[in-house]
Amino acid sequence: MATAILGMQWGDEGKGKVTHLLAKGADLVVRFNGGPNAGHTVIDRGVRFGTHLVPAGVFYPGVLSVLANGMVIDLEVLGQEMAEISLHLGGRPKLLLSETAHLILPYHRMVEDLEGMTGKFGTTRRGIAPAYRDRAAKAGVRVGDLLAPSRLRERIAERLDALARAWPGSQEVQGLSAQKLAADLLSQAGPFLEDIGDASGTIRRALDAGQNVLFEGAQGALLDLDFGTYPYVTSSSTTLAGLPNGIGVPLVDVERRIGVAKAYLTRVGDGPFPTELSEDVADYLRGKGGEFGTTTGRPRRCGWLDLVALRHAVTLNAPTHLAITKLDILSGMDEIKVCVAYRLRGSQISRFPLAAEDLAQCTPVYETLPGWSENLRGVREYDALPKEARSYLATIVENVGVPVGLVSVGAAPEETVETGFDSP
Ligand code: IMO
Ligand code: MG
Repeated sequence: MATAILGMQWGDEGKGKVTHLLAKGADLVVRFNGGPNAGHTVIDRGVRFGTHLVPAGVFYPGVLSVLANGMVIDLEVLGQEMAEISLHLGGRPKLLLSETAHLILPYHRMVEDLEGMTGKFGTTRRGIAPAYRDRAAKAGVRVGDLLAPSRLRERIAERLDALARAWPGSQEVQGLSAQKLAADLLSQAGPFLEDIGDASGTIRRALDAGQNVLFEGAQGALLDLDFGTYPYVTSSSTTLAGLPNGIGVPLVDVERRIGVAKAYLTRVGDGPFPTELSEDVADYLRGKGGEFGTTTGRPRRCGWLDLVALRHAVTLNAPTHLAITKLDILSGMDEIKVCVAYRLRGSQISRFPLAAEDLAQCTPVYETLPGWSENLRGVREYDALPKEARSYLATIVENVGVPVGLVSVGAAPEETVETGFDSP
């Protein structure tokens, strides 16, 4: 049984909570894309964690957590996360690092700064784009290189030569030493050397043996390198199409595909956002919803739910179910708007334009729905939701044609209304 959990918006949809809930019954939990740009909030036995690299499987001792080949891994971040989580658990979770995943090195962050990517796109400043670029340019350093120190030093030295030529004026770059970088990496990698292996083979065998495998997506469909709002995107494939490539297993079927969407919309960093709200309403949602980045602490931009964008994400991911999160945050609003179409250059359109320049010119066409005042955090049954909240959910289902399997009404695992993922 394979289940994929995929973000349907601009990230921060609540993938961490949903994965943590489902990881309980899993054998393997696999991250297949992105790196420490991800920030997944998980509340495990009352303690809040913001995970960046480790899959939510780490919270369950019997589960194997896999960092697959599609990821870019920063060993310093991994070391910190594992130390915190091991302390919380009183033991070390089982981990497998793909030997073909790429490493983020200190120069990736330097290059991100030197090229001004942080300012231009509002990136997370974690070296993500430079690391993925090195991978594509065959200039990357891979996890498996940690097992062959002389090859590791050689690869880093080649890269530093090229960087020194590209950035003659940067003292920071000129000051780098391959010996030192390799020594630092090997010392950070020390606790993980035994965890390096063939992740794709392990996933293949688990699936063949009928084990329960959960794939935890990072970022969201609208941040996809190809199908998101390029260039205001991340540098990996964030949709179902990216999954097989990110694990090295030619999956023909992932039986359950759970698309996670927030009941409203947020975005961190730059790029078009047609339903973005003016500051007073955005402030309300940001304050109540705690909409500050888990990775960078930046305030998230807030807006109404965009069903045109959600339909685009549905097309890309073919979810069997939706998980709608943070419905509780909308309590107390007189009315709630949802965007059902756009107006672009005088015409009404219902498809999501692929060019960010076009999306930037779209104005939303809204449908206005009645709000509700009840606090939802204690609700556990669908029928106990106020009728306005049910009709809000029904509007989403009608517009995107996918049933809702879970509604989150608070950050804690128990603050959940499960309507079921088993039947469509
Ligand atoms: P999770 O997994 C929200 C955004 C950044 C920036 C753009 C590119 O928590 O949903 P990058 O550092 O990836 O090159 O930045 O993508 N971004 C995210 N936004 N949630 C995330 O991850 C994100 N990962 C990257 O803010 O706009
Ligand atoms: Mg996040």
